[in-house]
Amino acid sequence: MEERQRILELRGLLHRYNHLYYVQNSPEISDFEFDALMRELSQLESRHPELFDANSPTQRVGSDLSTGFEQSKHQYLMLSLDNTYNEQEVREWFQRVSSLLNEDFEVCCELKYDGLSISLIYEDGKLVKAVTRGDGVQGDVVTDNVRTIKCIPLVLQSGSYPKSFEIRGEVLMPWASFDRLNAERELSEEPLFANPRNAASGTLKLLNPAVVAKRQLDSYLYYLLGENLPEDGHYENMMAAAKWGFKVSDHMKKCSTIEQVMDYISYWDTERRNLPVATDGIVLKVNSLRQQQILGLKAKSPRWAIAYKFQAERQLTRLESVSFQVGRTGAVTPVANLEPVQLSGTTVRRATLHNADIIESLDLHIGDMVYVEKGGEIIPKITEVDLDSRSMLIGDKVRFIDTCPECGAKLVRYPGEAAHYCPNTGACPPQIKGRIEHFVSRKAMNIDGLGPETIDLFYQAGLVKDIADIYSLTARDIARMERLGEKSAANIIKGIEKSKTVPFERVLFAIGIRFVGETVAKILARSLGSMEAVRKASLETLTGIDEIGEKIAGSIVSFFEQPANIELVDRLAETGLQMELQSDSQEQGNALEGKSIVISGVFKEHSRDEYKSLIERNGGKNVSGISGATSFVLAGSDMGPAKKEKAANLGIPLIDEYEFLKMIGLEPNNTPNTSNELLLPF
Ligand code: IVH
Repeated sequence: MEERQRILELRGLLHRYNHLYYVQNSPEISDFEFDALMRELSQLESRHPELFDANSPTQRVGSDLSTGFEQSKHQYLMLSLDNTYNEQEVREWFQRVSSLLNEDFEVCCELKYDGLSISLIYEDGKLVKAVTRGDGVQGDVVTDNVRTIKCIPLVLQSGSYPKSFEIRGEVLMPWASFDRLNAERELSEEPLFANPRNAASGTLKLLNPAVVAKRQLDSYLYYLLGENLPEDGHYENMMAAAKWGFKVSDHMKKCSTIEQVMDYISYWDTERRNLPVATDGIVLKVNSLRQQQILGLKAKSPRWAIAYKFQAERQLTRLESVSFQVGRTGAVTPVANLEPVQLSGTTVRRATLHNADIIESLDLHIGDMVYVEKGGEIIPKITEVDLDSRSMLIGDKVRFIDTCPECGAKLVRYPGEAAHYCPNTGACPPQIKGRIEHFVSRKAMNIDGLGPETIDLFYQAGLVKDIADIYSLTARDIARMERLGEKSAANIIKGIEKSKTVPFERVLFAIGIRFVGETVAKILARSLGSMEAVRKASLETLTGIDEIGEKIAGSIVSFFEQPANIELVDRLAETGLQMELQSDSQEQGNALEGKSIVISGVFKEHSRDEYKSLIERNGGKNVSGISGATSFVLAGSDMGPAKKEKAANLGIPLIDEYEFLKMIGLEPNNTPNTSNELLLPF
């Protein structure tokens, strides 16, 4: 078959399989077969750039080009809904609708998904634009990011959809993706997202669609707009949309009496806890579009709909004491110890108080009755003090401590940061033990048998005072410890030996540089290739790497500015840990020694990340802006006219990728672009 035809055929097939998998939950082929078709398409597409289509199934992984967001005006205002927390108000709304219409009507009840709203524009069955709500009048164009959401159809399944229409819905981060993302962020010490809504919204506003793809967003569509909609009923239109390929909730229900509506509300008030995504209420919509027209709109919301919001679950309990925990970075977290209380099916004994400012704003006193909430948050938190129940015998005001509860050092607070830190990094026990725990953890060096208790034993006995000491442990030392016999000693020693083969990127993660989580360590390892190169990298080199911002770069540089850290890394190297990337075919050289290179445009042979890495590995420097000091621009297709003009004015040569590969002695490989592998879930 002609390649062009095969490309079109594969695109059609993959759109269908994608819909069966992500929307219908009934895959027809195995993941393996799916991947094979995707690979075939991706290879064919790389041979036929002239057939590029932004809606091809291969584009869901997201390009690694960063773009700012344009604004776009909504064709129909994006209104919000009137909210109520009160069943009586729902009854009143129903009554009002009934008397305004003065005829029979149905109400479509549906879940209120707690994410961020999105407007999708389709023309001739293809997604052409995705816009956030913004201020309701205009929003950000986030089409490239939305393309990475697998359940949003890029091309519709056959059906009689209108030539042009808009469909609105909610972009969500499922609980499972949210928990995974926060776990990753915890490891790399990035601030956690408070709830899936913030995480989804933060993700959709990222400038790099490849990272968005990795975060695995989901979406439900709940509102169809346009001139030639198939039916008069909202519910019926949504069912039609489901046939065209959209993910529509299975839990919509048409009701004709207020009692049915109330039953729906009370059923979902508890049942929603079993859903994979967050919901915060119920939306009630008059079903007939004709009747919606009659009821009309108010300034900011329609008269034909209302949202009933669930009460966030909270409980009242007594604050018994406040303790302060020191983490491996030295950050001090205040923790409230509570009289145990049942909340969403678990017993809550402790809640986070976050930082000094929060304690202050709550005006907290020991013995206070406080409200604890779980809501969308991971850790319960105190939201309010019940001032009415405060007695005459008011307890001591809770104050943040000045000195470290573990080592007595005076705490510091860095400008712009909410947390207090213990600066005694080298000698504060929980910081030392925390770093060792992190070093041996599964995703780092994966040394079995060294849990927090064992580490504590070794630390107390003076056997392990830093991560490198682990490699001086002997079986005899270990077997001599209380509670540890010869068998566990042999196991631990085996684990320690095995860790010497752990790949370099995990070693880089394990040494615990702030903000260098698993993903960042992988990116650094692939771009720079060795511990030596990471250690010597300047701020500019580091920020020149995609995904590495100033915060991470600054942290790496300051880590290697400290002689104690350099000595530690040297000792680890001496024990035989992997300090270099096991390179496949990635030769190093110095063909680009002393050259400052700007990368611009889109490439066929390698991704931008790979080119950046090739530049570093051949002695060159990646720089972001064209200036008189630029040696040349590595120019792909689609290089912006402004950049081209600037290069021409300054007399900076443009070098294409083939010429560049020749310069560093590499052959073009014609293999598909693999850059995204780096950014897909590991
Ligand atoms: S309908 C004019 N249906 O709630 C009515 N909205 O405060 C348009 N939402 O901005 C919205 N689930 O982000 C509708 N099933 C649902 C919804 C829903 C969540 C969100 C949406 C909207 C906000 C309204």
